[in-house]
Amino acid sequence: MTASTDVPIAPDAHPHAATNGSAVAPVATGRAGAKAILLGEHAVVYGRPAIAIPVRALGARAEARPAVAEPRLSSALYHGAISRAPERLGVTLTALSAALEAAGGRAVPVDIAIESSIPAERGLGSSAAVSAAVIEATLRACGVTVDDERLHELIQTAERAAHGSPSGLDARTVRARAAVWFDGGRIEPVSVGRDLTFVIADSGVRGRTREAVAAVAARRHDDPEGVEAALDELGTLATALRRDVSSGARDDIGAAMSRAHVLLDGLGVGDPALDHLVRAAMSAGALGAKLTGGGRGGCVLALAPDLDAAAALSDRLTRAGAAAVWTTTVEGAA
Ligand code: MEV
Repeated sequence: MTASTDVPIAPDAHPHAATNGSAVAPVATGRAGAKAILLGEHAVVYGRPAIAIPVRALGARAEARPAVAEPRLSSALYHGAISRAPERLGVTLTALSAALEAAGGRAVPVDIAIESSIPAERGLGSSAAVSAAVIEATLRACGVTVDDERLHELIQTAERAAHGSPSGLDARTVRARAAVWFDGGRIEPVSVGRDLTFVIADSGVRGRTREAVAAVAARRHDDPEGVEAALDELGTLATALRRDVSSGARDDIGAAMSRAHVLLDGLGVGDPALDHLVRAAMSAGALGAKLTGGGRGGCVLALAPDLDAAAALSDRLTRAGAAAVWTTTVEGAA
């Protein structure tokens, strides 16, 4: 079973009135959210399971409207003709092309406007979320509906341009509403026994997922037994974590996160800035803390004992030098 999408793909283009009162071309929108991996990054690339959570405070939104002149792109990185967009927008352009190709005979040239509060290259799913939003908006502008699996494949096409051989975890989680269990390329909802409040701290160092994934592959080539043992342990931790999340065993969840951080560091995807934030989180009372996402920079995810403690934890992480902090609560049954 797949978790429901935030925005089901269905034509929802609606006319926007221009400020002078006349109708302008219909605008179609697409949205997706940020994600944080609770446990299982990198191990998922080798078939182990993972658990990820949506980060509701951050999201990406795209608007598409049929172009009346040369198609344009508007985003924080670039404003101008799509045909002259810089190379660093390659992933977004791949997403746009994939959507137009999927629209087939109904494809129309579109202007695209993108807004995103998800910091790029921080392990929070920015590339997958922006791609998902652009694809949804473009398909809607073309009046085309696709099913969930097709949409996932289109996002994966863009993710492949971002970092080679994505597991699909990011593409799935940026459209999920709740915590998800990812195994064998698919997700299902995770039952959550008690509220879990996390603080996410940005190290300010750009994460390099492509390099990090390549580094794990190289290490696995050089030390297959050592790396397989670490991947197996991450898989075992994820399986146990699912039970702990379900029963609300916060201390055990925290311990699993901290152990995962050590294992990920051993796989070569750590960074001194991440270790520094993990130490700061633990000394401020976090139950566990780890890097989240590709690593080699990016963010740390720390589990707070409760909501009040999360405020103190955020404060401490900011004083420890975090470039930004966010708090997110995964709601439990109790
Ligand atoms: C990146 O957010 C997660 C990784 O496991 C890569 C992937 O799953 O494709 C590092």
